Amino acid sequence: MVQGVIMHSLGSTILLLLVILCVVLLLEGAAACSGGRCELGDRCSSEADCGSELYCYNCWIEFAGKRCVRTTVADPFKIADTSLPFNKYAFLTTHNSFSIRGEPSHTGVPRITLYNQDDSVTDQLNNGVRALMLDVYDFRDDIWLCHSKGGKCFDFTAFEPAIGTMMEVEAFLSANPSEIVTLILEDYVSADHGLSKLFDSAGLTKYWFPVSSMPRDGGDWPRVRDMIRRNHRLLVFTSDETKQRAEGIAYQWNFMVENQYGDGGMSSRACHRRAESLALDNRTRSLVLVNYFHTVPLRVTACVEHSLGLADVLRACHAAAADRWANFLAVDYYKRSDGGGVFEATDMLNGMLICGRDDVRACTKRTLKDVLYGLLGKAGLMPGHGGTTRT
Ligand SMILES: *[C@@H]1O[C@H](CO)[C@@H](O)[C@H](O)[C@H]1NC(C)=O
Repeated sequence: MVQGVIMHSLGSTILLLLVILCVVLLLEGAAACSGGRCELGDRCSSEADCGSELYCYNCWIEFAGKRCVRTTVADPFKIADTSLPFNKYAFLTTHNSFSIRGEPSHTGVPRITLYNQDDSVTDQLNNGVRALMLDVYDFRDDIWLCHSKGGKCFDFTAFEPAIGTMMEVEAFLSANPSEIVTLILEDYVSADHGLSKLFDSAGLTKYWFPVSSMPRDGGDWPRVRDMIRRNHRLLVFTSDETKQRAEGIAYQWNFMVENQYGDGGMSSRACHRRAESLALDNRTRSLVLVNYFHTVPLRVTACVEHSLGLADVLRACHAAAADRWANFLAVDYYKRSDGGGVFEATDMLNGMLICGRDDVRACTKRTLKDVLYGLLGKAGLMPGHGGTTRT
């Protein structure tokens, strides 16, 4: 009898909890806006609800239901200008840009590997990604993008011939004559001049930034404006030291310092160099690359980690790199966020680099006065940061 009453009240409590849960889920799901009028962080039910440069995404480990989150980087060349050296801008970088979920097998053998991104290289570039990390291998008498081990590509680790991705890069550079793209190659190609032939076939040679124009001892890079004018809009770095002399492809760590990749790069307590890089604070390398992705890509947590902890890692690496902000921020699943994600982080980097503010959207076009103040600041004649732009 008593047991029966307890069971009964337990039953109705559970029922009540279920009803409450349903109401909460319904409310969470109901969008208060629609037709492209939803703003950042608003609930949404479909793509069409969100305003421009936003999409409708469910970061379900953080909130129930979908919300409008960012999809693009604010273009620093357009918001500020192109008058600064290349190393005074930051570029969102996709790690293993080619390792895309849903990419069909091109070998006839099902692929067994890990994935790092959700959308095509063309989409990545259109969303403001400006540097691609690609793993290139000799495979089937050609050069393939592959996610493998031990420098050898297999049927079950191969993605596709590299030419397709290179042609996507060519199409982007051709359609966007004021943009610059950087390729960072994990290079296992030993075919004679294999990469040079690949770039030739893809029509990329006309955009080539020559190694001879890259600064050796930590000097500034050419100004972006001049790179655009000369059509030097493709930077390629290789992990194979011999290729710089043999093929004129820049050896990455002659020009860049870089933190540890994988789980070691996710901690804000310390920012350490990766083995191939000089010390992060060595100013003889004028570009700084920050890796921020797990050793094993974690798709589910990416949306939270792209806000939580990222800015702290960027600040830790800024301190470790002799007060230099990252030029390249490399991530997995770049589009996943709970709002601003890696786009906001890149805007922060550009803001700090260009005008000393934590959002590039606060940097307006630099006026003559700004330039003058910047020069005076550099010469130690003015308090404040060099080249500061005020809105
Ligand atoms: C930077 O690296 C170069 C090349 O290895 C080395 O000669 C130089 O001493 C380093 N500078 C500092 C400040 O560590």
